[in-house]
Amino acid sequence: MTKKLKFLPLFLLAIGVVLGGYFYTDKAQSDDKGPSQPILFSHKIHAGENEIPCETCHSYVAISPNPGIPSVQKCIGCHSQVKGRDVEYTTEGGQTINLKNEISKVVGYWQRKEPIPWIKVTTMPDYVRFNHKRHIKKGFECTTCHGEVAEMDVVYKAKSLRMGFCLSCHKQNADNEQHLDELRDCLTCHY
Ligand code: HEC
Ligand code: HEC
Ligand code: HEC
Ligand code: HEC
Ligand code: HEC
Repeated sequence: MTKKLKFLPLFLLAIGVVLGGYFYTDKAQSDDKGPSQPILFSHKIHAGENEIPCETCHSYVAISPNPGIPSVQKCIGCHSQVKGRDVEYTTEGGQTINLKNEISKVVGYWQRKEPIPWIKVTTMPDYVRFNHKRHIKKGFECTTCHGEVAEMDVVYKAKSLRMGFCLSCHKQNADNEQHLDELRDCLTCHY
């Protein structure tokens, strides 16, 4: 036996400890609330109360890796008619806005021909590959990975989305051994 091989079990153990850490942190859910966005866009009002389907705005979610964030033009498609009621609305976080005033900010961006500089909430490191299409085609709900977005006034990262979270679902949903090997392969998710 070479010296290298003697250390192999130790090396594997070290990996085990590291991966174990992932499975452990998987249980800890982030309770960070979302960032202060340029316009208070409430998913609770749009996707919840008004029941606008997610795909109306995130149109590419089932057909491409990236769901897309709607353009100002998409907003104006409704808000050229929907000026909003002149009433106060208090979010769950305790922020009060006037519906009509908040909508007029959208019109402002449209008239200035500026995109709305939304702050991204869900991010993956550059070395991780993630594709919405395959997951949506398999029938997974948005809530599995994003939480109850339709009940949020301000979107926040409700799930940890750590490696252990990805891996444990891959383990549960693989069709067979070969599929499981593919779904656990480092290069499936890493560049
Ligand atoms: C399918 C139609 C539709 C689209 C598309 C749409 N909205 Fe709305 N929006 C509504 C309705 C309906 C209301 C509720 C108005 C009310 O109750 O007075 C609303 C309310 C709002 C409000 C006030 C409540 C809140 O969420 O703060 C804002 C701001 C707003 N929309 C921004 C946007 C932006 C930004 C976009 C594009 C990303 C957009 N809307 C796209 C229909 C739409
Ligand atoms: C009327 C348009 C509209 C609808 C309907 C809508 N969204 Fe969104 N969504 C947006 C906009 C605009 C943003 C960027 C601003 C923000 O983060 O609130 C966004 C952001 C998000 C984000 C955070 C993206 C990031 O930055 O990481 C998630 C997750 C999301 N939406 C999921 C959903 C889900 C799930 C549904 C259906 C239950 C849905 N959205 C319905 C317009 C919409
Ligand atoms: C299996 C987990 C999973 C499911 C299911 C899922 N997402 Fe995501 N979503 C992610 C991850 C991971 C990211 C971050 C991707 C990145 O940064 O590369 C993300 C990012 C997003 C973003 C931000 C895109 C951007 O450009 O900022 C939106 C919007 C979004 N998802 C909407 C949805 C909607 C709508 C659904 C349901 C139709 C959905 N997601 C289902 C895991 C998921
Ligand atoms: C709710 C269960 C679930 C979660 C959570 C999940 N996946 Fe998956 N993922 C699957 C299944 C099932 C497949 C196989 C789909 C198929 O073969 O059609 C898959 C396939 C993949 C693939 C290979 C196909 C492709 O899209 O290129 C990658 C890469 C991937 N997932 C990355 C991730 C990452 C990264 C995360 C965590 C951020 C994640 N997945 C979270 C269930 C999940
Ligand atoms: C199902 C998708 C998936 C598979 C398969 C996967 N990873 Fe990851 N990995 C991720 C995600 C998502 C992250 C980023 C989030 C995090 O840090 O947990 C990550 C992060 C990492 C990191 C960075 C940790 C840090 O704290 O910076 C390392 C190292 C890593 N993975 C190694 C591996 C190795 C080695 C394998 C193969 C045994 C592997 N991964 C397989 C999804 C995956």
